[in-house]
Amino acid sequence: MNRCLIGQMGHVALRSSDAQASIDVATRMLGLRVTGEDAGTTFLSANRNHHELIYIEDDRNGVDRFGLVAADEDALDEARHRVAQAGFPIVADEPIEAGLGRGFTFVGPDGFVFEIYLDMPQSVEPALGFGPDRYGHINLHAADIVGMRDFLVGVLGFMVSDVIGDGELYFLRCNAEHHGIALGKGRGVMHHHAWQAQSIVELGKLNDRLDAARRRALWGPVRHGAGHNIATYFAEPGGSVVELYTDMEHIYDPHRPANTWPTEDGRWYNRWGVYIPAEFRDYGIPPITVARGL
Ligand SMILES: [Fe+2]
Repeated sequence: MNRCLIGQMGHVALRSSDAQASIDVATRMLGLRVTGEDAGTTFLSANRNHHELIYIEDDRNGVDRFGLVAADEDALDEARHRVAQAGFPIVADEPIEAGLGRGFTFVGPDGFVFEIYLDMPQSVEPALGFGPDRYGHINLHAADIVGMRDFLVGVLGFMVSDVIGDGELYFLRCNAEHHGIALGKGRGVMHHHAWQAQSIVELGKLNDRLDAARRRALWGPVRHGAGHNIATYFAEPGGSVVELYTDMEHIYDPHRPANTWPTEDGRWYNRWGVYIPAEFRDYGIPPITVARGL
């Protein structure tokens, strides 16, 4: 069996043209805490991992890189071999951030940079308060959805949990959680990054914090069909969308066949109604190299 070489989703590093506003929203609305700062780079986390989200000051918004944690030492070596064999340029034989342990960095489909590594350094236990449990998944609107699917499934070993229509969207998992990466067809952007909360109550509290700050949620709480998660979404100042979710399906059977949904069956995105905001797909940020026209 083609086991998944990735064990955990790791972290997301974003560039923001208003990094302080992005950090304020990540801490005061979502509930992450700052674990470190270094020359325009701010590290944030929901738990004891040193970082799950990074904001880097820049003159434009974009995705700097995605961090993925290898399943083990052998998986890291196998991933390095397969990525090179598949022709993706390896730009460093180590992760970009210091302290991540062994790893490597490469440019994947659509120009997104990935670093695969072992061992995230730990930080202190967060103080009790509001906030998610952990970073959970990203949602990409891929310009080359087949290329991105083939890379994640064929090279890294992600498993397909759900498919919408004739390959309109794919929900892919690397561990028991229903999806670590969701793919739709689009402009070659990251649409959202998502964070797990303990219950739907936390989603209500988030929307109350947004309202108190005179910010607006984009959508939710909504029960998705694909993934079964209850989710709510808001836009952050750096151009991407943030999802807080709970009650996601977990899959422990590696042979569980992919669920398929007809595109026109709106239950895949909303089991509690028919609503999806018209402007929802307008958000998203490209890889920073693409944002710079490189
Ligand atoms: Fe999501």
